[in-house]
Amino acid sequence: MTEHAGSPQRGRATDEWWRSFFDLTYAEAELVPDDPGPAERAADRLVGWLRVAPGDVIFDQCCGVGRVAIPLATRGMRVIGVDQSEPYIELARAAAARQHADARFFVGDAFAWTPPELCDAGFNWFTSFGYHADDTMNIQMLEAAHRSIRPGGRFVLEYLATPGMLRRFRSSSVHRPRGAAADGLLILDEPTIDFRAGVVVSTWTFLHRDGRREERRVQTRLFMPHELIRLFEQAGFRVVELLDGDTGEALELGSRRMAVIGER
Ligand SMILES: C[S@@+](CC[C@H](N)C(=O)[O-])C[C@H]1O[C@@H](n2cnc3c(N)ncnc32)[C@H](O)[C@@H]1O
Repeated sequence: MTEHAGSPQRGRATDEWWRSFFDLTYAEAELVPDDPGPAERAADRLVGWLRVAPGDVIFDQCCGVGRVAIPLATRGMRVIGVDQSEPYIELARAAAARQHADARFFVGDAFAWTPPELCDAGFNWFTSFGYHADDTMNIQMLEAAHRSIRPGGRFVLEYLATPGMLRRFRSSSVHRPRGAAADGLLILDEPTIDFRAGVVVSTWTFLHRDGRREERRVQTRLFMPHELIRLFEQAGFRVVELLDGDTGEALELGSRRMAVIGER
């Protein structure tokens, strides 16, 4: 039986790889936008999907540097974000202060952390989920989201769309990151698929302009849509919509991103 697709076949990421992967180099490359457009569009989509209005309290689970939280706050929402990275939270707080945004940010572990007050709605954006190969761990993050939201409130998980990803799978690709501070940086992405574990393990090589090379590995579960729906239900949500995360239309075979919308 062939258990891996792609090359090179370099096995798993280290346990809890996310604790070292998400550093300032990654943030500057991928999270600090040179073009605010995608995060602004994300905020617009979220307002509709979550059915929220100015004054509502929104939970951003794994908020990074506040890329999506702050545009939501500038639309009048009161946002509470959590991330495991202290430097990311410092950046998020500084950005919120600069923009006079009603956004509070906390350092915490999203597998267990819940906000200091019950929120009207919540979201987890840009594949910030499914990092454990073991779903008994992953579901804990959804359960924490469920505990964070009032009955009747909605929660959106925005994730890579596995069917479309498999359809256009390439064993290596190079991209120029979108971040404002990523001057001259290239990222070589070499994914392999571990069918037995149901994960994609990607080796990312950062090729810096000055010739430095840095390699790191990232691992994400390859959820088929129905598997995510099942996890939502196990965590206590009722799934109300399954959408193409880019277009907001129904999810299709070719979709790049998916959005699962649950209601508590
Ligand atoms: C791909 S980034 C996305 C950040 C943000 N959602 C966005 O769209 O800009 C994933 C984020 O999840 C955070 N993260 C990963 N595991 C976490 C955990 N267990 N608890 C809290 N944050 C976590 C990382 O630190 C990182 O900021």
